[in-house]
Amino acid sequence: MARNFFTMMKSTAPSATEPSTAERTVAPPPPSMKQDAAAGVGVHLDPTLEAVRHDFTEEVEMALELRDVSAFYGSFQAIDRITLPVPRNRVTALIGPSGCGKSTLLRCFNRMNDLIPGARITGRIDFGGRNLVDPNVDAVEVRRRIGMVFQKPNPFPKSIYENVAFGARINGYSGDMDRLVEDSLRRAALWDEVKDELDKSGLALSGGQQQRLCIGRAIAVQPEIILMDEPASALDPVATLKIEDLMRELAEDYTIVVVTHNMQQAGRVSDYTAFLLAGEERVGRLVEFGPTQDIFTNPLDQRTEDYITGRYG
Ligand SMILES: Nc1ncnc2c1ncn2[C@@H]1O[C@H](COP(=O)(O)OP(=O)(O)OP(=O)(O)O)[C@@H](O)[C@H]1O
Ligand SMILES: [Mg+2]
Repeated sequence: MARNFFTMMKSTAPSATEPSTAERTVAPPPPSMKQDAAAGVGVHLDPTLEAVRHDFTEEVEMALELRDVSAFYGSFQAIDRITLPVPRNRVTALIGPSGCGKSTLLRCFNRMNDLIPGARITGRIDFGGRNLVDPNVDAVEVRRRIGMVFQKPNPFPKSIYENVAFGARINGYSGDMDRLVEDSLRRAALWDEVKDELDKSGLALSGGQQQRLCIGRAIAVQPEIILMDEPASALDPVATLKIEDLMRELAEDYTIVVVTHNMQQAGRVSDYTAFLLAGEERVGRLVEFGPTQDIFTNPLDQRTEDYITGRYG
Protein backbone atom coordinates (compact mmCIF):
# COMPACT_ATOMS: atom_id res chain seq x y z
CA MET A 1 0.00 0.00 0.00
CA ALA A 2 2.74 2.34 1.03
CA ARG A 3 4.50 2.00 -2.25
CA ASN A 4 1.41 3.18 -4.03
CA PHE A 5 1.19 6.43 -2.16
CA PHE A 6 1.83 8.58 -5.20
CA THR A 7 -0.28 6.42 -7.44
CA MET A 8 -3.08 6.89 -4.96
CA MET A 9 -2.53 10.60 -5.01
CA LYS A 10 -2.70 10.66 -8.75
CA SER A 11 -5.91 8.66 -8.81
CA THR A 12 -7.53 11.10 -6.40
CA ALA A 13 -6.32 14.16 -8.30
CA PRO A 14 -9.17 16.68 -8.52
CA SER A 15 -9.22 17.22 -12.26
CA ALA A 16 -8.85 14.76 -15.10
CA THR A 17 -7.73 17.56 -17.38
CA GLU A 18 -4.64 18.32 -15.31
CA PRO A 19 -1.42 16.82 -16.62
CA SER A 20 -0.28 13.71 -14.77
CA THR A 21 2.56 13.98 -12.29
CA ALA A 22 4.82 12.21 -14.75
CA GLU A 23 4.05 14.74 -17.46
CA ARG A 24 4.62 17.56 -15.06
CA THR A 25 7.94 16.28 -13.88
CA VAL A 26 9.41 16.37 -17.37
CA ALA A 27 8.02 19.76 -18.34
CA PRO A 28 10.67 22.44 -17.95
CA PRO A 29 9.70 25.40 -15.82
CA PRO A 30 8.72 28.52 -17.73
CA PRO A 31 11.72 30.73 -18.58
CA SER A 32 10.57 33.52 -16.27
CA MET A 33 10.60 31.12 -13.34
CA LYS A 34 14.10 29.98 -14.23
CA GLN A 35 15.40 33.52 -14.22
CA ASP A 36 13.64 34.36 -10.99
CA ALA A 37 15.00 31.32 -9.24
CA ALA A 38 18.53 31.89 -10.43
CA ALA A 39 18.36 35.47 -9.23
CA GLY A 40 17.19 34.19 -5.87
CA VAL A 41 14.63 36.95 -5.45
CA GLY A 42 11.07 37.45 -6.46
CA VAL A 43 10.45 33.75 -6.90
CA HIS A 44 6.82 33.28 -7.69
CA LEU A 45 5.36 30.00 -6.55
CA ASP A 46 2.22 29.09 -8.40
CA PRO A 47 -0.09 27.65 -5.75
CA THR A 48 -1.94 25.57 -8.32
CA LEU A 49 1.18 23.66 -9.33
CA GLU A 50 1.75 20.41 -7.52
CA ALA A 51 5.15 19.53 -6.15
CA VAL A 52 7.40 17.34 -8.25
CA ARG A 53 7.49 13.83 -6.85
CA HIS A 54 10.09 11.26 -7.71
CA ASP A 55 9.09 7.61 -7.65
CA PHE A 56 10.03 5.40 -4.75
CA THR A 57 12.75 2.94 -5.67
CA GLU A 58 12.12 0.60 -2.74
CA GLU A 59 9.29 -1.00 -0.83
CA VAL A 60 8.80 1.13 2.22
CA GLU A 61 5.98 1.76 4.66
CA MET A 62 4.97 5.22 5.71
CA ALA A 63 5.29 6.45 9.27
CA LEU A 64 3.31 9.59 8.47
CA GLU A 65 1.31 10.78 5.50
CA LEU A 66 0.59 14.47 5.25
CA ARG A 67 -2.21 15.68 3.06
CA ASP A 68 -2.79 19.34 2.31
CA VAL A 69 -1.23 20.50 5.54
CA SER A 70 -1.34 24.26 5.99
CA ALA A 71 -0.16 26.16 9.05
CA PHE A 72 -1.05 29.66 10.16
CA TYR A 73 0.21 32.08 12.77
CA GLY A 74 -2.82 34.28 13.32
CA SER A 75 -3.79 35.52 9.86
CA PHE A 76 -0.36 34.76 8.38
CA GLN A 77 -0.14 31.53 6.42
CA ALA A 78 3.33 30.02 6.85
CA ILE A 79 2.90 26.82 4.82
CA ASP A 80 0.38 25.92 2.15
CA ARG A 81 -1.16 22.53 1.47
CA ILE A 82 1.87 20.32 1.88
CA THR A 83 1.28 16.72 0.84
CA LEU A 84 4.19 14.53 1.81
CA PRO A 85 4.89 10.95 2.84
CA VAL A 86 7.40 10.22 5.60
CA PRO A 87 8.86 6.74 5.07
CA ARG A 88 9.26 4.54 8.14
CA ASN A 89 12.75 3.71 9.43
CA ARG A 90 14.31 6.17 7.04
CA VAL A 91 15.84 9.61 7.42
CA THR A 92 13.89 12.33 5.64
CA ALA A 93 15.54 15.74 5.28
CA LEU A 94 13.56 18.97 5.03
CA ILE A 95 15.60 21.55 3.16
CA GLY A 96 14.97 25.07 1.89
CA PRO A 97 15.93 28.69 2.47
CA SER A 98 15.42 30.42 5.79
CA GLY A 99 11.79 31.27 6.46
CA CYS A 100 10.29 28.72 4.03
CA GLY A 101 8.51 26.92 6.87
CA LYS A 102 10.72 23.94 7.68
CA SER A 103 10.46 24.35 11.46
CA THR A 104 6.76 25.12 11.18
CA LEU A 105 6.20 21.93 9.20
CA LEU A 106 8.30 19.89 11.61
CA ARG A 107 6.30 21.22 14.55
CA CYS A 108 3.07 20.16 12.80
CA PHE A 109 4.32 16.55 12.93
CA ASN A 110 3.96 16.34 16.71
CA ARG A 111 1.45 19.08 17.45
CA MET A 112 4.17 21.32 18.83
CA ASN A 113 2.53 24.30 17.07
CA ASP A 114 -0.35 23.86 19.54
CA LEU A 115 1.94 25.43 22.11
CA ILE A 116 2.28 28.66 20.10
CA PRO A 117 -0.59 31.10 20.78
CA GLY A 118 -2.52 31.86 17.58
CA ALA A 119 -1.00 28.95 15.65
CA ARG A 120 -3.39 26.73 13.70
CA ILE A 121 -3.04 23.74 11.37
CA THR A 122 -5.40 22.44 8.70
CA GLY A 123 -5.20 19.28 6.62
CA ARG A 124 -4.49 15.71 7.64
CA ILE A 125 -1.51 13.91 9.05
CA ASP A 126 -2.14 10.18 9.08
CA PHE A 127 -0.23 8.44 11.81
CA GLY A 128 -1.05 4.83 12.53
CA GLY A 129 -4.53 5.15 11.05
CA ARG A 130 -5.44 8.35 12.89
CA ASN A 131 -5.35 11.98 11.87
CA LEU A 132 -3.04 13.52 14.42
CA VAL A 133 -4.21 17.04 13.54
CA ASP A 134 -7.64 16.15 14.92
CA PRO A 135 -8.13 18.07 18.21
CA ASN A 136 -9.60 14.92 19.75
CA VAL A 137 -6.23 13.23 19.43
CA ASP A 138 -4.24 13.66 22.63
CA ALA A 139 -1.30 15.95 21.80
CA VAL A 140 0.69 14.77 24.82
CA GLU A 141 0.47 11.18 23.61
CA VAL A 142 1.42 12.31 20.09
CA ARG A 143 4.52 14.01 21.50
CA ARG A 144 5.52 10.89 23.40
CA ARG A 145 5.34 8.85 20.23
CA ILE A 146 6.91 11.56 18.09
CA GLY A 147 9.82 13.13 19.94
CA MET A 148 11.74 16.26 19.11
CA VAL A 149 15.34 17.45 19.32
CA PHE A 150 15.97 21.16 18.89
CA GLN A 151 18.68 23.22 17.25
CA LYS A 152 20.16 24.37 20.53
CA PRO A 153 20.81 21.53 22.96
CA ASN A 154 18.47 22.10 25.90
CA PRO A 155 19.20 19.64 28.72
CA PHE A 156 17.23 20.14 31.91
CA PRO A 157 19.28 21.65 34.76
CA LYS A 158 19.44 18.21 36.31
CA SER A 159 21.88 15.33 36.38
CA ILE A 160 22.67 13.37 33.25
CA TYR A 161 20.77 10.44 34.74
CA GLU A 162 17.71 12.53 35.54
CA ASN A 163 17.69 14.12 32.11
CA VAL A 164 17.07 10.69 30.65
CA ALA A 165 14.90 9.25 33.43
CA PHE A 166 12.63 12.26 33.88
CA GLY A 167 10.39 11.92 30.82
CA ALA A 168 10.12 8.16 31.19
CA ARG A 169 9.08 8.50 34.83
CA ILE A 170 6.47 11.13 33.95
CA ASN A 171 5.15 8.75 31.33
CA GLY A 172 4.70 6.12 34.02
CA TYR A 173 7.65 3.90 33.13
CA SER A 174 7.81 1.22 35.79
CA GLY A 175 10.65 -0.97 34.52
CA ASP A 176 14.33 -0.95 35.51
CA MET A 177 15.22 2.73 35.30
CA ASP A 178 19.01 2.21 35.50
CA ARG A 179 18.74 -0.10 32.56
CA LEU A 180 16.59 2.33 30.58
CA VAL A 181 19.04 5.18 31.22
CA GLU A 182 21.98 3.05 30.14
CA ASP A 183 20.22 1.75 27.03
CA SER A 184 19.09 5.21 26.01
CA LEU A 185 22.53 6.71 26.49
CA ARG A 186 24.12 3.84 24.59
CA ARG A 187 21.76 4.35 21.71
CA ALA A 188 22.57 8.05 21.80
CA ALA A 189 26.28 7.13 21.55
CA LEU A 190 27.00 8.93 24.82
CA TRP A 191 27.22 6.16 27.40
CA ASP A 192 30.96 5.56 27.23
CA GLU A 193 31.67 9.23 27.78
CA VAL A 194 29.37 9.71 30.78
CA LYS A 195 28.93 6.33 32.48
CA ASP A 196 31.19 7.30 35.41
CA GLU A 197 29.58 10.68 36.03
CA LEU A 198 25.86 10.19 35.69
CA ASP A 199 25.30 12.54 38.64
CA LYS A 200 27.00 15.42 36.87
CA SER A 201 24.75 18.18 35.58
CA GLY A 202 23.66 17.76 31.98
CA LEU A 203 24.59 21.41 31.51
CA ALA A 204 28.24 20.62 32.30
CA LEU A 205 28.63 18.58 29.11
CA SER A 206 30.04 19.92 25.84
CA GLY A 207 27.55 21.13 23.22
CA GLY A 208 27.86 17.94 21.19
CA GLN A 209 27.45 15.79 24.29
CA GLN A 210 24.45 17.85 25.37
CA GLN A 211 22.84 17.26 22.01
CA ARG A 212 23.40 13.52 22.29
CA LEU A 213 21.97 13.68 25.82
CA CYS A 214 18.86 15.34 24.37
CA ILE A 215 18.65 12.56 21.78
CA GLY A 216 19.00 10.01 24.62
CA ARG A 217 16.26 11.80 26.50
CA ALA A 218 14.02 11.62 23.42
CA ILE A 219 14.76 7.92 22.98
CA ALA A 220 14.00 7.08 26.63
CA VAL A 221 10.27 7.55 26.17
CA GLN A 222 10.37 5.02 23.34
CA PRO A 223 9.09 7.13 20.48
CA GLU A 224 8.45 5.90 16.97
CA ILE A 225 9.57 9.06 15.22
CA ILE A 226 12.28 11.55 16.17
CA LEU A 227 12.10 15.05 14.72
CA MET A 228 15.33 17.02 14.65
CA ASP A 229 15.47 20.73 13.84
CA GLU A 230 19.00 21.55 12.70
CA PRO A 231 20.39 19.33 15.46
CA ALA A 232 24.01 19.91 14.52
CA SER A 233 24.05 23.54 13.43
CA ALA A 234 25.47 24.74 16.76
CA LEU A 235 28.16 22.05 16.84
CA ASP A 236 31.74 21.77 15.61
CA PRO A 237 32.53 19.46 12.65
CA VAL A 238 33.58 16.49 14.81
CA ALA A 239 30.46 16.67 16.99
CA THR A 240 28.40 17.16 13.82
CA LEU A 241 29.73 13.96 12.28
CA LYS A 242 28.92 12.08 15.50
CA ILE A 243 25.33 13.29 15.33
CA GLU A 244 25.14 12.32 11.65
CA ASP A 245 26.46 8.83 12.38
CA LEU A 246 23.96 8.56 15.17
CA MET A 247 21.08 9.52 12.89
CA ARG A 248 22.04 6.77 10.47
CA GLU A 249 22.16 4.23 13.30
CA LEU A 250 18.88 5.39 14.79
CA ALA A 251 17.13 5.03 11.44
CA GLU A 252 17.37 1.26 11.91
CA ASP A 253 14.79 1.50 14.68
CA TYR A 254 13.18 4.90 14.33
CA THR A 255 11.84 7.20 11.68
CA ILE A 256 13.87 10.40 11.58
CA VAL A 257 12.90 13.74 10.09
CA VAL A 258 15.70 16.28 10.09
CA VAL A 259 15.74 19.92 9.11
CA THR A 260 19.11 21.00 7.81
CA HIS A 261 20.65 23.94 6.02
CA ASN A 262 23.69 21.91 5.21
CA MET A 263 23.41 20.28 1.79
CA GLN A 264 26.35 17.94 2.40
CA GLN A 265 24.67 16.82 5.58
CA ALA A 266 21.35 16.21 3.84
CA GLY A 267 23.23 14.22 1.20
CA ARG A 268 25.12 12.18 3.80
CA VAL A 269 22.39 11.36 6.27
CA SER A 270 19.07 11.31 4.51
CA ASP A 271 17.31 8.71 2.41
CA TYR A 272 14.57 11.09 1.26
CA THR A 273 14.56 14.83 0.77
CA ALA A 274 11.75 17.37 0.66
CA PHE A 275 12.60 20.80 -0.74
CA LEU A 276 10.42 23.68 0.41
CA LEU A 277 10.42 27.23 -0.83
CA ALA A 278 8.50 30.37 0.03
CA GLY A 279 7.66 32.77 -2.76
CA GLU A 280 7.30 36.50 -2.53
CA GLU A 281 4.18 36.15 -0.38
CA ARG A 282 6.35 34.22 2.14
CA VAL A 283 4.06 31.18 2.05
CA GLY A 284 6.09 27.97 2.13
CA ARG A 285 5.26 25.24 -0.38
CA LEU A 286 6.70 21.87 -1.21
CA VAL A 287 8.59 22.05 -4.49
CA GLU A 288 10.10 18.58 -4.82
CA PHE A 289 10.24 15.31 -2.91
CA GLY A 290 11.98 12.03 -3.56
CA PRO A 291 14.91 9.77 -2.76
CA THR A 292 17.81 12.00 -1.74
CA GLN A 293 20.05 10.59 -4.42
CA ASP A 294 17.53 11.50 -7.13
CA ILE A 295 16.93 14.95 -5.73
CA PHE A 296 20.63 15.69 -5.58
CA THR A 297 21.72 14.13 -8.85
CA ASN A 298 18.64 14.70 -10.93
CA PRO A 299 16.49 17.53 -9.55
CA LEU A 300 13.53 18.00 -11.85
CA ASP A 301 12.57 21.50 -10.80
CA GLN A 302 14.93 24.34 -11.65
CA ARG A 303 14.41 25.89 -8.24
CA THR A 304 15.54 22.71 -6.50
CA GLU A 305 18.64 22.62 -8.64
CA ASP A 306 19.37 26.26 -7.91
CA TYR A 307 19.04 25.68 -4.19
CA ILE A 308 21.14 22.55 -3.93
CA THR A 309 23.86 24.07 -6.06
CA GLY A 310 23.93 27.05 -3.71
CA ARG A 311 22.58 29.65 -6.08
CA TYR A 312 20.19 31.09 -3.56
CA GLY A 313 18.93 30.75 -0.02
N1 LIG B 1 5.78 31.87 16.34
C1 LIG B 1 5.61 32.49 15.17
N2 LIG B 1 4.73 33.51 15.04
C2 LIG B 1 4.54 34.13 13.86
N3 LIG B 1 5.18 33.81 12.72
C3 LIG B 1 6.07 32.81 12.78
C4 LIG B 1 6.34 32.11 14.00
N4 LIG B 1 7.28 31.16 13.75
C5 LIG B 1 7.58 31.29 12.44
N5 LIG B 1 6.87 32.27 11.86
C6 LIG B 1 6.91 32.69 10.44
O1 LIG B 1 6.60 31.55 9.65
C7 LIG B 1 7.46 31.47 8.52
C8 LIG B 1 8.18 30.17 8.54
O2 LIG B 1 9.06 30.16 9.67
P1 LIG B 1 9.91 28.87 10.06
O3 LIG B 1 10.56 29.17 11.36
O4 LIG B 1 9.05 27.69 9.98
O5 LIG B 1 10.97 28.85 8.87
P2 LIG B 1 12.28 27.95 8.69
O6 LIG B 1 12.24 27.40 7.31
O7 LIG B 1 12.40 26.99 9.81
O8 LIG B 1 13.44 29.06 8.78
P3 LIG B 1 14.94 28.92 9.34
O9 LIG B 1 15.69 28.14 8.31
O10 LIG B 1 15.39 30.34 9.43
O11 LIG B 1 14.89 28.23 10.67
C9 LIG B 1 8.35 32.70 8.58
O12 LIG B 1 7.80 33.70 7.76
C10 LIG B 1 8.32 33.09 10.04
O13 LIG B 1 8.52 34.48 10.19
MG1 LIG C 1 13.78 26.73 11.35
